Amino acid sequence: MCGIFGYIGRRSDAAGLVVEGLKNLEYRGYDSWGTAWKTEKGISVRKDIGKISSVKSADFTDETSIAIAHTRWATHGGVTKQNAHPHLSCDENIAVVHNGIVENYDALRNELKAKGHRFLSQTDTEIIPHLIEEEMKSTKDFAAAVRSACQRLKGRFGILAMHAASQTLVAARAGSPLIVGVQKGKTKTSPVEGYYIASDIPAFLEHTRTVQYLDDGEMVVTDGKSILFSDIVSGRERPKREVEISWSMEQAVKGQYEHFMLKEIMDQKESVARAVNQDEEQIKTLAKAIREAQGTFIVGCGTAGKACMAAEYFFSVIAQHHVNFAPASEFKLHHHFLKPESLLIVVSQSGETADVLEAMHIAKSKGAKVLAVVNVEGSTISREADYTLRINAGPERAVASTKALTGQLAVFLLIAYALAGKLQDGKTLLLETAAEINDMLNPRYVERIRSLAENIKTARDVFIIGKSWNYPMALESAIKIQEVSYVHAEGFAGGELKHGPIALIEEGTPCIALVGKDEVMDDIISNTIELKARGAQIIGISPVKHDVFDEWIKVPNAGNAQALVNIIPVQVLAYFLAVTRGKNPDMPRNLAKSVTVK
Ligand code: AGP
Repeated sequence: MCGIFGYIGRRSDAAGLVVEGLKNLEYRGYDSWGTAWKTEKGISVRKDIGKISSVKSADFTDETSIAIAHTRWATHGGVTKQNAHPHLSCDENIAVVHNGIVENYDALRNELKAKGHRFLSQTDTEIIPHLIEEEMKSTKDFAAAVRSACQRLKGRFGILAMHAASQTLVAARAGSPLIVGVQKGKTKTSPVEGYYIASDIPAFLEHTRTVQYLDDGEMVVTDGKSILFSDIVSGRERPKREVEISWSMEQAVKGQYEHFMLKEIMDQKESVARAVNQDEEQIKTLAKAIREAQGTFIVGCGTAGKACMAAEYFFSVIAQHHVNFAPASEFKLHHHFLKPESLLIVVSQSGETADVLEAMHIAKSKGAKVLAVVNVEGSTISREADYTLRINAGPERAVASTKALTGQLAVFLLIAYALAGKLQDGKTLLLETAAEINDMLNPRYVERIRSLAENIKTARDVFIIGKSWNYPMALESAIKIQEVSYVHAEGFAGGELKHGPIALIEEGTPCIALVGKDEVMDDIISNTIELKARGAQIIGISPVKHDVFDEWIKVPNAGNAQALVNIIPVQVLAYFLAVTRGKNPDMPRNLAKSVTVK
């Protein structure tokens, strides 16, 4: 998600300062960057696609005390320099950076065009400086114009705005976080020397640990010496106390979460939607390559491998197209099937996994093409593949892969729908599912699962069953629980229980049933009843309640995307099982984030 950072105060190197600070927000993931600063000549802008890490603050030589900067994660409009923020008004006197989505931008854009405004980008953000410019025609007060403009925006936003003729910085928040850093002065006569305003504390932590929190529906106006918090709608002042931050930089990146694993599980409120945000022509091209290939293999390791296994079901059920899954480490013996017309799809969060790289080399040695579905841009796998799709999950730092998995599942569902000639149906389903995940991951829901983890923390074994695409999620559930809590967990195809595993069930054994409201629901419920009959404690993860459940964790009824939602409560359960058992879920024993050895 986008990063925002602005400064106003006594310093005169504001442009370089905000660019440097933005580098501390790179973990949020982005594809372009930009900055604007104010001098007596007006507002200057520099922006580009690519990484801000290569930009030197020394390149900004103008003396300036007001600057704003932004790292963009593309939502509306492709990854281009023109679409990068900041965006300017027609007269280039107003610059704005924005995090979030303006849902009514189409109507506002048409209204502004009818009034003569010209737009240069495809972004929703660009309507904001033009809207402020229009409002300034009726009020000469810049802050008042920003307030009026914000009252017309629908959707989630966090914005920073500056004006060439105003010695103020204005910020407004409605759904996307913004925090104020206070640079204390050294003398009584100047108690404050400046203000930093950012989407996340790491942007300014090296300068100050004194912060004031902006809440949704609020805006701030500051001249660098004082600051006024107010309600966007009523204008009523909202005094804020100052808070001292004691975090280290790493803790600041984790924000309010104790571990990266939980932070990344919660990132799924936004990362699933980002996975869906793909270039449609590219998706159609890849679907065509799959359709035309003579034999498509899909390989990955561990959690990524379970995404591949689920994809096999997606392609079968949604597109009636056969692809062959194999764990990457088992692919070696499949090379007999490969020919130049074959296609190998590889999936890897890190893009560095040795077994996956070996599978790629085998395929290439036979002349086959390789499609990589990765998260880390510029990774070895992404550079060696013929085609690459990025899941846009943003950096995943916990060893346990969570948001990368749901990003991989979302991308494969999209491709399966494209293969069936129904790409828009797939996008609609996935964006609806993303919104439901956002609603599902609320504090009450998380607390419910935390207490469930508390109840089963002494269990020796946990078994998980699923059918169809919930079977790979049963296997993935086992990996999650194993790797962070060290509890013995095993996933089974529900139909396999009576062929052996059911002998393991004892009185009170926790068993998780992954259920969908689909054609196999009755079967998996029957399997669950078999477990219950042997004394198992049943935890049902399902869109609908069943009598067989001792505990019911409700999930959205997501249709063909059910696997994507069902795995999320298990991620949360695994996390709290680890924590309640005194383990550090971010650094599990014996495991590495990227397995670069065979
Ligand atoms: C998942 O939680 C594990 N950390 C592990 O199974 C991981 O998925 C596997 O090593 C593959 O990693 P990759 O996605 O980076 O290739």
